[in-house]
Amino acid sequence: MRFDARSFEGQPLQLLLARVRAGDIDRILGEARRQMAPRPRGVVRTRGAADQPTVDLMPAMEGAAVVDSPLPPDHPPVQIPRVTLVEWIGAGAEGIVYLGIAEQTGRNVAVKLVRQDAGATRSSAVREALICAKLQHPNIVRVLTVELLPPWWVIIMELVKGCTLSTAAVSQRDKPVFGQLSDALCLLSARGIVHRDVKPANVILRDANRSPVLIDFGLAVDLGAAEWMPDSTQGTPIFMAPDALRGNKPEPSWDWYSLGITVAEVLLGMRFCGKYSSLTYTDLAALKLTGAFDREVRQALRELEDAELSSWCAALTDSGSPEREKAIRQACHWQ
Ligand SMILES: Nc1ncnc2c1ncn2[C@@H]1O[C@H](COP(=O)(O)OP(=O)(O)O)[C@@H](O)[C@H]1O
Ligand SMILES: [Mg+2]
Repeated sequence: MRFDARSFEGQPLQLLLARVRAGDIDRILGEARRQMAPRPRGVVRTRGAADQPTVDLMPAMEGAAVVDSPLPPDHPPVQIPRVTLVEWIGAGAEGIVYLGIAEQTGRNVAVKLVRQDAGATRSSAVREALICAKLQHPNIVRVLTVELLPPWWVIIMELVKGCTLSTAAVSQRDKPVFGQLSDALCLLSARGIVHRDVKPANVILRDANRSPVLIDFGLAVDLGAAEWMPDSTQGTPIFMAPDALRGNKPEPSWDWYSLGITVAEVLLGMRFCGKYSSLTYTDLAALKLTGAFDREVRQALRELEDAELSSWCAALTDSGSPEREKAIRQACHWQ
């Protein structure tokens, strides 16, 4: 099935049957079998220290072990009609991302492959594309198409050239970066979308102009579509709001909290990811639910020289703060 997200506005969605060349099927299935080897339930999947785990928390309630995901394949495991895959450029807990060239236009694109078994239900890749299509914003990645080439969901996006905030050198002088991210979150809040996985690894800083781009809407929820079911709690624990850890219904405030922790981590050298990376989910959740984690972050934020930035970040991480609403509006002026 093929779905063209560009036709979302005003036109009917285009649904076409995907054609996989017969000779490719064995190769795709062989690769898929290698990739889809069963993983133990209740583990946190991680791919190195920089990208903290995205995890389905429900099976991990009694404490999670951390294991490494298999490395991405040397050769792309699927051939995509009209797109040549050139090289592997990134991976998260769910997707493998390649640089591709659209054959008809010669344009570079990013191609994200999501295994059907990777917590990605049939609709989740389509939902990721639909939600992105609703959010036209310079600081939100543009998704072009999504299609099913079994056993992969293939999401084709604009290629954002740059590094993620996990590795980019960012300082307190980069307030416009945080301002632009706030602007993007304002749009999400206004549209009733909760990203649920705002973190340094999901923000790419463009090489060309240092503008940030929010990526990875794989866990995003459209509150208006009433699609959320209280069946699983997902996210990256260290960046998740206490309410998110409780498994409550998603709210836009969760993303603001995650932005606060993201900015704090980036400015403080990923201090808390390092300090708490070996904690079990249960222990980290306990730290968060008692408020101890947030107090520690806010204490550390006092080290920043820029008092405005420090109090802004602290207010975002404090859902009870009367300053929070003001803080949310404030950063949009840091353009
Ligand atoms: N549009 C894009 N342009 C360039 N690189 C990208 C793009 N989307 C993702 N990436 C890279 O691939 C990595 C994984 O993508 P992501 O969508 O976060 O996957 P996951 O859902 O597995 O976390 C990102 O951290 C980033 O390095
Ligand atoms: Mg990601």
